[in-house]
Amino acid sequence: MDWGMKNRVSRLIKPKTGKAVWLAIDHGYFLGPVSKLEDPAKTIKPLIPYTDALMLTRGILRNCVDAGLEIPFLLRVSGGNSIVGPALSDESIHTSMEEALRLNASAVAFSVYVGSQHENQTLTCLGQLVNEGQRFGMPVLAVTAVGKELEKRDARYLSLSCRIAAELGAQIVKTYYCDDFEKVVKSCPVPVVVAGGPKLDTEMDVLDLAHEAVTAGARGVDMGRNIWQSSNAVGMIKAIRSIVHDGSSVKEAAKFLNQK
Ligand code: R5P
Repeated sequence: MDWGMKNRVSRLIKPKTGKAVWLAIDHGYFLGPVSKLEDPAKTIKPLIPYTDALMLTRGILRNCVDAGLEIPFLLRVSGGNSIVGPALSDESIHTSMEEALRLNASAVAFSVYVGSQHENQTLTCLGQLVNEGQRFGMPVLAVTAVGKELEKRDARYLSLSCRIAAELGAQIVKTYYCDDFEKVVKSCPVPVVVAGGPKLDTEMDVLDLAHEAVTAGARGVDMGRNIWQSSNAVGMIKAIRSIVHDGSSVKEAAKFLNQK
């Protein structure tokens, strides 16, 4: 990896622990104003001190994030789909590499939909982004998306998607946690981080997911709804941080949930 790309990756995956806690707030690019993310600036303000990096679109970055904040970000560069449209998988590149460089992104992010009708389109876009990223020293985060088909999230499918994303050159892969997650991580030659998915039933379920994922080899989380839709978002991100960076048990981390 060239110096510039390596430097960008080390802003995201903290060299001290080799781990990462990213806050995903990019949901609006296809979901619009999701509950608790209607006012992104308000949502993220208390969470910033506990966040290694934000994942977001250029629109939210420019309008809701102070340029003076010392926080790296992963820029979602894809879109063109919506929750009410004909196919969530119909996604392509909407933000240029030039724009990512101008905004000082630490990585660009793109979703691939393996097995969908837009498999080829999204994988081709990923390849294109990787080519441009190599040219400019910009890491690419591939997100293994499943659209509305949440039942797809098993080790067989996610291993396939993650491996394909890595084979096409993504420097980091983001996927969902699943049973036998070790298999997913072991067969993917680049760092894997996990999304949280739709809000889980309990806060302890979220901590279990983070703990199981990191124990199985994930480098951290890129989580959204299970943090900022929590009634105690600050306690939740502190608890997740202690699991990811400090190796806390779920029980130890749960102490943060009792703090405000
Ligand atoms: C999809 O909406 C985005 O890629 C999210 O960044 C990703 O799904 C992570 O957010 P959550 O933890 O809410 O699933």
